[in-house]
Amino acid sequence: MKLKKIKNKLLLLVMGMVLSAPLYANAEEALELMIGFEEEEMFFEPRGETEQLERTSEDAYTGDYSLLVTERSQPWNGPAVRIEEHVDVSTEYSFSVWVKLIEEATVELQLSTQIGDGDNASYQTIDTQSVSSDEWVELAGTYRYDAIVDDFVSIYIESPNSDSVSFKIDDFSMQSAGSSSNISIQTELTPLKDIYEDYFLIGNAVSLAELEGQRLELLRHHHNLVTAENAMKPEYAYNSSREFDFTDQDRLVNRIKEEGLELHGHVLVWHQQSPEWLHTEDGQLLSREEALDNMYTHIEETVRHYGDDVIAWEVVNEAMNDNPRDPEMWRAMLRRSDWFDAIGDDYLELAYLKTREVLDENGWEDVKLYYNDYNDDNQSKASAIYYMVKEINENYAEDNPGELLIDGIGMQGHYNSGTNVDFVRMSIERFRELGVEIGVTELDITTASTGELTEEEEKSQALLYAQLFSLYKEHADIISRVTFWGLNDSTSWRAERNPLIFDRDLLAKEAYYAVANPEEYLARNDGSEESEKRVGQAGYGTPQLGEEIDDIWSTAEELAIDRYQLAWQGANGTGRVLWDEENLYVMVNVDDASIDTSSEFPWEQDSVEVFLEESFEQSSTYEEGTGQYRVNAEGQETFGEMTDHTSIETVVTETPTGYTVQFAIPWVNHTPQEGGRIGFDLQINDAESGNRESVAVWNDLSGQGFQNPSVFGELELTRADDSSTESDFLDSENGEGTNSPLIILAGLIIGSAAAVILVIMKRNKK
Ligand code: XIL
Repeated sequence: MKLKKIKNKLLLLVMGMVLSAPLYANAEEALELMIGFEEEEMFFEPRGETEQLERTSEDAYTGDYSLLVTERSQPWNGPAVRIEEHVDVSTEYSFSVWVKLIEEATVELQLSTQIGDGDNASYQTIDTQSVSSDEWVELAGTYRYDAIVDDFVSIYIESPNSDSVSFKIDDFSMQSAGSSSNISIQTELTPLKDIYEDYFLIGNAVSLAELEGQRLELLRHHHNLVTAENAMKPEYAYNSSREFDFTDQDRLVNRIKEEGLELHGHVLVWHQQSPEWLHTEDGQLLSREEALDNMYTHIEETVRHYGDDVIAWEVVNEAMNDNPRDPEMWRAMLRRSDWFDAIGDDYLELAYLKTREVLDENGWEDVKLYYNDYNDDNQSKASAIYYMVKEINENYAEDNPGELLIDGIGMQGHYNSGTNVDFVRMSIERFRELGVEIGVTELDITTASTGELTEEEEKSQALLYAQLFSLYKEHADIISRVTFWGLNDSTSWRAERNPLIFDRDLLAKEAYYAVANPEEYLARNDGSEESEKRVGQAGYGTPQLGEEIDDIWSTAEELAIDRYQLAWQGANGTGRVLWDEENLYVMVNVDDASIDTSSEFPWEQDSVEVFLEESFEQSSTYEEGTGQYRVNAEGQETFGEMTDHTSIETVVTETPTGYTVQFAIPWVNHTPQEGGRIGFDLQINDAESGNRESVAVWNDLSGQGFQNPSVFGELELTRADDSSTESDFLDSENGEGTNSPLIILAGLIIGSAAAVILVIMKRNKK
């Protein structure tokens, strides 16, 4: 109470000073906008239809008010503020907002920006942080708008892994870095499209924002092909009355044609970004006839509409399960999507036949038909796709001798730092046997960690790009195109993992040079990749396993389960590990909005896995004392084949945002000691409709942990009483650092002074 009074007095003082001083008239850096919710007007509006925004005096990061966001029903729901009035193209802006959850939980909140409206909009992430109800967390980052589309730019807060979590926000600010942050495109770089002219087309994923200004300059310099990153997906083909409406798409396609770029069509039939009603009504699947009818109508109208403006259509996208157990039985390995369930396992073949028929009728024989999928380096998946394309093409050739129905296989190429180029090679060699062409359709390489790219990460990423392009050149006779999934890191769908060859300033990264001359790059860099093994700590102590989460867990280090093995990224969480003379104790907290345990395979159910090698020999095979322990969201235990699990104990509890699993795993053949090391990993499997869509891990990206313990990370066994990290950790978690009351007071004063200045500035601007 006392603090507040002092603060208010100081505010008046600062206000007085500010009013009599000129406001940043010619300053390079300027605060554009500050919204602290102290006044009636909120400026923020809901993005979706259900969520409620309300000013509240219950809690605030500074001042008396914050903004309460409740009743959300989709991950993308949240408060948004329009900022186009404040944006100058090519200037960098810093954004910051403070957030806190209402209910007891921990989920990721994300600060994002939307550029453009309607079907041509693009969405970019600025920052993602784990947020709880304990303390205010800052979401902050910079963004440069290289183009404004439809006079629409907004900033918003969403929760990618939860549709309903309620939260508060406070002190949103936007600051420009001034003209000093302006950039120019490196037109002196040799265009990749010229380097690869005799090999394959060089493509990129676009929205309208890539067809203007400096983004267009970079796009045109290196590329001769584009794919619409979103606009040509089924969802965008209709208006809200379920009628076809290609108005926004036509604007995009016209711009693409004006620029003389080729267009690769993505996509006709997919289980994502597609209207539900095409196959489902009131939660019930349509009959085979009705669903087929809708699929045919969609294909006919869309294919006719674009005609030969496209050089290819990805007719079906992502129809195969991940890591299918019996690739030869490809029909049984198909993803159980609503299309599959409504129509049957022939829906793919029928989709290709229909597309071919429409093209033939109209004389557009040159348009190629592709099958497109991710995790294309997984040999089981590549093999299942091989059998599928083989059979469908053989069937077609019976009536059409010498002709292909599926002309090409799209290898999406969403790779990561754990990708082994030898597996990519094996898949290409396999597909070659089919006599089809190959398109690399969505290439990017994410780093294991998020945030700033380190020098090592940039190098190992470049190395993988060099290995891939060298491989692509070897197979250039069948590779038709290589398309990057995004122009630069800050606009990638995986922006936080810097996956592309141009950085946030549109400048060439090491990866550009690796792509431009892979052989030279490989000769200069010996290929010895840095190991990115994570090292963590297990605290000492004996927790009580049960419904109540024992306080002692909080003394152990928090391990982030935030590296993704698959292209699609879903549930994640955190783990903590304790040890005593009897057991290793593990607790994993999972954020998972919808629980699905319907698959017959335990690893395809929402579940948590612990990998443990007691001896830390980093052996490449499972020995005594090495184990893989899995528990699904409903508490069912399963184990790796070689795992001794006779006396393990587990408890699963539900949480508002997912579930928590506690394990006690007895030592099998080991006397644990302080300072000792163990091989260790954690995994979260996230399933939807009986199919695993996402795998998040603490350490290993290769996915080989079930048979090869050498890929595990490393844990050190520490003791609570002598470890400084643990007490540091506790301090930071409770938000009680070493800050003296004086420092806090100073911070508050500066914070509120800034708030006042900004509110005033904003008024002046209007
Ligand atoms: C992604 C886009 O990049 C995102 O902007 C969008 O939010 C989700 O879809 N496989 C595909 C692409 O076939 O369509 C996906 O694109 C990435 C994975």
